Amino acid sequence: MVIDWTLAFDPWAFLIGICRLARSTMKHLTSLLNLSVDDVHAILAKSHELKAGWKRGERPALLQGRYLTQVFEKPSLRTRVSFDAAMAQLGGTGNFLSGQDAGLSGRESLADVARVISGYSDAVVLRTFSQKLIEDFSSHSRCPVINGLSDDDHPCQALTDILTLQEVWGDVQGKRLVFVGDGNNVANSLAMIVSMLGMSMTVCAPRDFELDEALLQAIRLTFPNCDITQLTDPVAAVSTADVVYTDVWASMGQESEADRRSRIFFPYQVNARLMSKAPSGCLFMHDLPARRGKEVTDDVIDGPNSIVFQQAENRMHLAKGLLVWLLG
Ligand code: CP
Ligand code: NVA
Repeated sequence: MVIDWTLAFDPWAFLIGICRLARSTMKHLTSLLNLSVDDVHAILAKSHELKAGWKRGERPALLQGRYLTQVFEKPSLRTRVSFDAAMAQLGGTGNFLSGQDAGLSGRESLADVARVISGYSDAVVLRTFSQKLIEDFSSHSRCPVINGLSDDDHPCQALTDILTLQEVWGDVQGKRLVFVGDGNNVANSLAMIVSMLGMSMTVCAPRDFELDEALLQAIRLTFPNCDITQLTDPVAAVSTADVVYTDVWASMGQESEADRRSRIFFPYQVNARLMSKAPSGCLFMHDLPARRGKEVTDDVIDGPNSIVFQQAENRMHLAKGLLVWLLG
């Protein structure tokens, strides 16, 4: 596996290099860039297959005797419970630790924590502030490591979002996802996955909250035919949308900035007026939790074109497909 070291001082390009190296050894999902396009298709196909079986009442014990450890520095409903339910339904089991209980706050070295936890576990899900912590943990881990969200990335969410869109549309290729909001973790992972799958994306954010230019360059380097546009005008952005997607204005860890961000992002609220500027039939998605009345209004999130709860349920089906792909 070749790493382009000429790009080593660009953090995103460096991450791609590390991810490619990781892809060549043990399978991890620290970032979508760990995965090949074929890997993404395989995970999605396995998730669809397991969901179809689940609807028929099947609970195949594909992970009997397997153990999943989840270590989270931030709160979670969907990620934590969907992985827990996925393991239980597949015949496995697991445990949950706060970052502090696991020793991520300095009780012992990260390398030692990773070596010990991965000695007990078949896979580890980590939710952290720092993406680097997840990368460092995976480099010392003896079992696959899954990113359950960092400040930079949310790969399980983006995989789930595509799973959901495939259920609605069949083929996602050529469709345009318009992300209106903060260009951070969720938008980053969406930008990666749409580029892998031949979709287009518009990111509509206030100035200084767009996608990171270095990430965009890294995506363009890896997927030269990708189509990602950045705009600041929400009306222009949604005019070409097949799906409008938003996320909270203040992410976990940014609570003290919530008032300032509310003022900056208010023109980017996804409400019925903005959705009326989108083509008819345009879908609405949100990774949740939603701050109703902030980034989205009730009439949109509870409206007929919203697929947010299908999306939320699909976190479990994606977790199953991913775990079976990693461990099965
Ligand atoms: N979407 C998502 O990751 O939700 P949680 O923060 O509840 O896990
Ligand atoms: N951007 C949000 C996503 C929550 C799932 C956050 O990081 O809090």
